[in-house]
Amino acid sequence: MARKFIIDTDPGVDDAQAILMAHAHPDVDLLGLSVVSGNVGLSHTLTNACHLVDLMREPVPVFPGCERPLGPRGEDAAFVHGSDGFGDLSLPEPVARPEVEQAANALVRLINEHPGEITVVAIGPLTNIAVALLLDPQLPDKLDRLVVMGGAVTGKGNVSNISAEFNIYSDPEAAALVFEAFDQIDLVDWEATMAHSYSFKVLDAWLASGTDHAKLFDRVSQAIRKFVVSEHGERLMRAADALAMAVALEPQSIQASSQCAVDIELTGSLTRGQTVVDWDSRTSKQPQCRIVTAFDMDRFLHLNEQAFKPFRAS
Ligand code: RIB
Ligand code: CA
Repeated sequence: MARKFIIDTDPGVDDAQAILMAHAHPDVDLLGLSVVSGNVGLSHTLTNACHLVDLMREPVPVFPGCERPLGPRGEDAAFVHGSDGFGDLSLPEPVARPEVEQAANALVRLINEHPGEITVVAIGPLTNIAVALLLDPQLPDKLDRLVVMGGAVTGKGNVSNISAEFNIYSDPEAAALVFEAFDQIDLVDWEATMAHSYSFKVLDAWLASGTDHAKLFDRVSQAIRKFVVSEHGERLMRAADALAMAVALEPQSIQASSQCAVDIELTGSLTRGQTVVDWDSRTSKQPQCRIVTAFDMDRFLHLNEQAFKPFRAS
């Protein structure tokens, strides 16, 4: 039976890859994209989500979410993904249009319509998930799985607070609410992302498929490739959201993980947004996170490659 997915997302280049991976997977019924601001502002992340839906074999609803975090506004990632979040290609307006229904309301509605059946894959700041929790505090009991791309579990982050990662750092208050409310989260952090990087050469081989989505991704990904080479001097893709999606699609391909309690630092001047991990169970806190530390690399590459092949008939 097809597994029901909702992807909460701030597209974003690696978000696009993750969404295409889910759409290409034969066992996934993609119920919707709940969109949040993050990499860039909500107007752009919504447009980018609609561009992806235009490529799909059947319409997937795009739900507009929060245009700001619960706490103070932070930095965006336009310097990585392009000012429009999709490589600044001046693409024509997409055909697909966002729904009127707000993302948090859609999350609550769909999860209550399909109790125990939905996997939510959260690959942006957790603002929409937090608002949905405020609307329906019993939400965690009604989900099949929550997979989160976020955090840096030993403090090797990617934002100006060096021990924090972008999705968590963008809305630590939302993350704290989510990590407190759920008793089981599959967590894919930035350090796991770095450990599962792959070369531009591998990506280019996939994009040689010549499909419309491969062509779009090739164009959209040029900005992030330039950033990675200029900033890090290496021709490697760090596809954080794609790794989180791989964990959502094939949990059986997780090769190593740790079950730990994870808290979110809210007040540290140096550490706000840090994921603080109780590695040695020294607190009495619920070890709510399965921290994924190793995923079968061959399977990860395979799932990525499927994203760019011709879509199967629906
Ligand atoms: O830190 C990586 C995360 O931040 C990814 O979700 C990427 O899309 C950005 O949102
Ligand atoms: Ca993202």
